[in-house]
Amino acid sequence: MCGIVGYVGSRAAVPVLIEGLSKLEYRGYDSAGIVVWEDNQLKLEKKLGRLSVLQEALQGTELNARCGIGHTRWATHGRPSDINAHPHTDCTGRFAVVHNGIIENYLELKEWLEAKGHRFKSETDTEVLPHLVEHYYRGDLKEALQKVVERLEGSYAIVVICRDEPGRLVAARQDSPLVVGLGEGENFLASDIPALLKHTRRTLIIDDGEIVDLTAENVAVSNGTGKPVKKEVFEVTWEESQAEKGGYAHFMLKEIYEQPRALRDTLSGRITPENHRVILKELNIDTHLVKKINRVFIVACGTAYHAGLVGKQVIESLVRVPVEADIASEFRYRGPLVGPDSLVVVVSQSGETADTLAALREAKRLGARVIAVTNVVGSSISREADDVIYTWAGPEIAVASTKAYTTQLICMYLLGLWLAQQRGTLPQNEIREILVELRELSAKAETILDNNSAIEEISRQYKDKENAFFIGRGLDYVVAEEGALKLKEISYIHAEAYPAGELKHGTLALIVKDVPVIALATQKALFEKMVSNIKEVNAREASIIALAMEGNTEIEKVADHTIYIPATHPMLAPVLTVIPLQLLAYHVSVARGCDVDKPRNLAKSVTVE
Ligand code: M6R
Repeated sequence: MCGIVGYVGSRAAVPVLIEGLSKLEYRGYDSAGIVVWEDNQLKLEKKLGRLSVLQEALQGTELNARCGIGHTRWATHGRPSDINAHPHTDCTGRFAVVHNGIIENYLELKEWLEAKGHRFKSETDTEVLPHLVEHYYRGDLKEALQKVVERLEGSYAIVVICRDEPGRLVAARQDSPLVVGLGEGENFLASDIPALLKHTRRTLIIDDGEIVDLTAENVAVSNGTGKPVKKEVFEVTWEESQAEKGGYAHFMLKEIYEQPRALRDTLSGRITPENHRVILKELNIDTHLVKKINRVFIVACGTAYHAGLVGKQVIESLVRVPVEADIASEFRYRGPLVGPDSLVVVVSQSGETADTLAALREAKRLGARVIAVTNVVGSSISREADDVIYTWAGPEIAVASTKAYTTQLICMYLLGLWLAQQRGTLPQNEIREILVELRELSAKAETILDNNSAIEEISRQYKDKENAFFIGRGLDYVVAEEGALKLKEISYIHAEAYPAGELKHGTLALIVKDVPVIALATQKALFEKMVSNIKEVNAREASIIALAMEGNTEIEKVADHTIYIPATHPMLAPVLTVIPLQLLAYHVSVARGCDVDKPRNLAKSVTVE
């Protein structure tokens, strides 16, 4: 995820900015840049690659500037490059801006600005910001920014510097973190607390809709209408390593908690405001080919493969076309029946997984159209695919994949609905119903996270088990696969998932007293059948944790513990159902003293076959 730092004071700004950015490196980035005010000019340097590349470019430059802003970029709109790196400037070089988040209506704004004669250099959404500031500026930077944010849709933390107002930074926030660090005769801005800790522990946490006006001596916060807001000072007591994790004990937990934001971002700009249609501007597939596709293959590894299993059921049901989900390491060795009328969807968080990349190449060799679903702009998979749908989850650091999975699911729904739209396989009212529910998932995910302590309590009771079974039917079964993977990879408990109806064909022999069985029963049409399957394991005195949608209290009669998820469209339930399973695995792993973020024998990105 992108990182922001800002400084105004009496020290040399460049080293302060670079040091602040280095504290945000752990978040992942592809390019970095700074701009400082010096000798009545804005001096800017930005570079693709690590911070050290930027530092090298800055070698030999005077370090007299006392005010500036810096940024590390994680690409969303536009590939990683020098030009797309932040800061971005207006036509005159009078304003420079750094930005975290996504400006959803940037295309509309860009067209409007271009019509007024503004010239754009980059492919980013961010570049509309300095041009908007240029348009609205009448001698007061704060007033200009206030007008700019009124035009924006989406999420942002923005910091602006102006050549004509030395020693002043102005910033705004909506759905993307922004903090002020309070110093003596100096003040700081940052997207995250670790960037501030070397200098101060006294902070102001900026809220949505607020604007900050920062000089070395003064910090003024106001709301959108310009009315002053009184902020409480928040004294940071976290250690540096804890601060990197936003105060969470592990990256995995932080990433689980980031899911509501990640779901929202991944949907952003991809559904019309009235929920009528899916917009996937990134797909350049000819309508004739869309109609001609006679088979879809979803190819991936591990958690991404599990997202593909959900995708298979979703796309088959929405588009009525046969879909195969394939494990990438098997795909190219089984002689898949792929041809020019096939659509191959490769799914990969990192975009670098060797087996998935090899499957992509094989699919292209066989003449298929290849769409990548990935989290990393500029990754090998994104470059080699014909089209890319990005999951805007932000960097995932924990080895165990969480927010990447739920955002991959969002892409599966969007792709399925888009194909259904293009091929006319689903009535408009049904598309709308699903789109309305999709938008509500983020808030519903928050509700599940609010139940974390109850899930932690349940988890503690299972910490000494050596085997666990996950059962479900339909979409619940494929989510059970992901639940089992999460538990085994971070707690080292042997965990397997089974279709619930399959138990009595063998596995029931292993179900004995106190064996944990996690039973997923969120699918309305299969609920009664699932209750019967739970009764089968209940009769063997297994210890049952059931997951059901709110309102289905009947399940409590057959389960030892029940976790409810908010009611949603059954097709979308996987996004919610998996969250308690992630938390369950996390808490069991912590209770067993395992290395949650770096489980033994595993790597985040598997770049060898
Ligand atoms: O980067 P990718 O999505 O291609 O990685 C695929 C798998 O290695 C990955 O999903 C792995 O299974 C997870 N780390 C498990 O949590």
